[in-house]
Amino acid sequence: MAKIFVARALPGNAIERLREAGHEVTIHGGSMPPTREQLIAGVAEADGLLSLLTDRVDGELLDSAPQLKAVANFAVGCDNIDLAAAAERGIPVGVAAHVLTDATADLTMALLLAAARNLPEGERDAREGRWKTWEPEGWLGRELRGAKLLIIGRGRIGQAVADRAEPFGMQISFVGRNDDLHAALAEADIVSIHCPLNDQTRHMIDAAALAAMKPDALLINTTRGGVVDQAALIEALHAGTIGSAALDVTDPEPPPADDPIYSAPNCLIVPHIGSATATTRAAMGNCAADNLLAALAGEPMPTPAPSPPSA
Ligand code: DGY
Repeated sequence: MAKIFVARALPGNAIERLREAGHEVTIHGGSMPPTREQLIAGVAEADGLLSLLTDRVDGELLDSAPQLKAVANFAVGCDNIDLAAAAERGIPVGVAAHVLTDATADLTMALLLAAARNLPEGERDAREGRWKTWEPEGWLGRELRGAKLLIIGRGRIGQAVADRAEPFGMQISFVGRNDDLHAALAEADIVSIHCPLNDQTRHMIDAAALAAMKPDALLINTTRGGVVDQAALIEALHAGTIGSAALDVTDPEPPPADDPIYSAPNCLIVPHIGSATATTRAAMGNCAADNLLAALAGEPMPTPAPSPPSA
C-alpha cells in the first residue's frame, strides 16, 4: 500500500482506481490549487504525487518528500515540473500524453473560427443594442479557403489541427525547431502555436517575431502563455503590427483583473480550456493513474515525460 497525494479533485474514476489498487489517497480539497505550504505538507509522507499544471514541482518540493517514488502530471505539458531535479533524485515523471490531442485541436479550431469571423464582437453587439440592421459592410471576417495556416510545432496536436483545417481549404505549413521561424511567419495569415514551453521556446514569439508577421495575421495560442512575450503581443495588437490574437493560455494564468491583455484590441481570451471536455479530462485522470500504478509497482510509466535536456 502506497500513500498518494492528489493535488485537486478530478473527474472520472482515476481516484477510485488508485484506491481499488489498495493505495491510500489524500485529495487536496476545494477548487483552488494547494498553496506551496499545503503542497509541501501533502507530499511529506507521500509515495506518489498526482500533480496539476498549477503545481510547481521542483527540487525543494521533491526534497520535502523523502518517500516519493513517482510523480504523475494531470497534463501533457510538464513545464511545471523540474524534470532534471526529478531525474537527479531517481523519481519518474509521467504525463497525460495522447489523450487530449483531439480536444485541444477542436478548441484551436473553435478559436480560429471565432476570431476569423469576429464572433466575440458580434455576440457583444447583438446583446448590447448595436445590431440595428443587416449590414453589408458590418462584421466582415476572414475567408478560410485559401488562407495560409502556419502551425508551429510538429507534434500530435499540430497535426490534428492540420487535419481539421484541411477540409476548410486552408493552405497548411509547419515550422519546427530547425526551421526559419521568421520567414515562415511572414507568409502566414493564421499562426497556431503547438510546441511545448521549455528554455528554447520561452518567448519564442517576441517583438521581432510579431514584427515579421502580416499586419492582419491572427495568432492562436493553445499551448502555454510563456511561449509568447505577452507584453510584446499587447504592444503589437495596439500598434496593429498583427491583426488579432486568440488565447487559451496567458502568462500569468489567470491574468490579474487589471492586466493590459484584457484591453488589447482584437484579443479573444478563454480560460485554458483546451482539454476541457468530460471525456478528455476523465482520460487524463486515467493516464495519470496508469502512470502512478505502474511506477509504484516498480514498472516503467506507460506515458513518461520527455527526458530532461541534460539527461
Ligand atoms: C496540458 O495538458 O498540458 C493542457 O494544457 C491542459 O489543458
